[in-house]
Amino acid sequence: MAQSDPALKPKKPLVRDHFTTTLGIFVATLGSALGLGNLWKFPALTGANGGAAFVLAYIISTILVGLPVMISELVIGRSQHANAITSFRRLAPGKLWWLVGALGALAAFFILAFYTEVVAWVLLYIPKAISGELATSDPAVTEKVFVSLISNPVASLVGQWIVIAYVAVIIIAGVAKGIERVTRILIPILFAILILIGIRSLTLPGKAAEIRQGLAFLFTPDLTKLTFSVLLTAMGLAFFKLSVGMGTMITYGSYFTDDANIPRIALRVMLADVLVSILAGVAIFPAVFAFGAEPAVGPGLLFITIPTVTNTMPLGGVVMVAFLVLTAIAATGAMLSLFEVPVAYLAEKTRLTRTQATVITAVLLALIGSTAALSSSTLANVKIFGKTFFDLWDYLSSNLMLPIGGFFICVFVGWVWGWPQVRDALTNKGTLNNERVVKFFYGIAKFVTPILVLVVLLCGLGLFG
Ligand code: PFF
Repeated sequence: MAQSDPALKPKKPLVRDHFTTTLGIFVATLGSALGLGNLWKFPALTGANGGAAFVLAYIISTILVGLPVMISELVIGRSQHANAITSFRRLAPGKLWWLVGALGALAAFFILAFYTEVVAWVLLYIPKAISGELATSDPAVTEKVFVSLISNPVASLVGQWIVIAYVAVIIIAGVAKGIERVTRILIPILFAILILIGIRSLTLPGKAAEIRQGLAFLFTPDLTKLTFSVLLTAMGLAFFKLSVGMGTMITYGSYFTDDANIPRIALRVMLADVLVSILAGVAIFPAVFAFGAEPAVGPGLLFITIPTVTNTMPLGGVVMVAFLVLTAIAATGAMLSLFEVPVAYLAEKTRLTRTQATVITAVLLALIGSTAALSSSTLANVKIFGKTFFDLWDYLSSNLMLPIGGFFICVFVGWVWGWPQVRDALTNKGTLNNERVVKFFYGIAKFVTPILVLVVLLCGLGLFG
């Protein structure tokens, strides 16, 4: 492994934890990308925004926006082996670029606020699925179960605290012994469950026509459905999916070894992540059409529609439990990476130990998170810009903070850091023989991504055009 410049090492005399192998780097990074984004958001947004046209916009955003931002973030973090804020401070001393890292840490709290709550619902749903409470083909019944769950303030809060504690315990174990080890076990299980559910959905007896209809919904785009607001949602999803625009990948990149091939890892993570989203769509939509359910229900799809669909299929109870377990597994790696952003900063920049930093982050999160947890009960009537806290944190982070963060990260790499430095950092000082790929990436990150993000953001918000 090449040694990095000693001047760039953190001031605190600590042997910095890091991912240990190329496979470990890949699974941890993929583990951050995979999550509720694939199994809850992607199907819900695809259903609500007209299907294949949305999928197309999401895939194009992933390639032209998500991937360049991901490579930019990873290389920023790896070059400094430091948290997001410190990385910017070292690369641009005396400038305000560190604010991009700070905005990211704030976004991590906003995302975790609603994310941990959705994971809590998933966990609380597992006993309901096992006990047969969800065994109905009537969405009105599952809706009742769901509404009574989310409008119960105690269950919502306690469920969220349990999720936060679960993530905190793994975070305290560390980067290699916690994050890397756990994601290495969970990711293969996730693929196996998802493929089994996909096969079940595609082989439903006597439903060939509906299955084709479900696949057409997913793969035959009707471009008239693409408004700027749909494009902004698709781009927001691309950011959210790849965990970019807020310093998560800067933080993870800081744990990469110096010989890691960043463009290659980022490309593979992106491909695997899109594949999982598509597989989730294939697992869900043919079955939704086969049982005459409504694809456009939005966030309730996972909790209201899917149980009625699985209930009607052979082996449905098992499939439903498997789907919930799958979702909880996928969400773990994502929550770990979100948590790591503030923890890395606190543990490196203050005198706090990693354990203390984790506990403080967890308490702060429980406070902010309670606003999302109580959004359907105690705080149901509190609306900001017409949105409950739950929806506000979701909208603010995906549709605003991540695109803004991603814009500045690309501008930084393309226009501030400069080509020779970026080339050296991404070719591992010329040892990787990938200069052509790096040049191509640099051109996209410098010219295409920032303009695209700006146009979609301004038009999507209705501020322009
Ligand atoms: N990528 C995760 C998902 O799709 O569920 C969510 C996420 C994780 C977003 C980490 C942002 C982040 F920094």
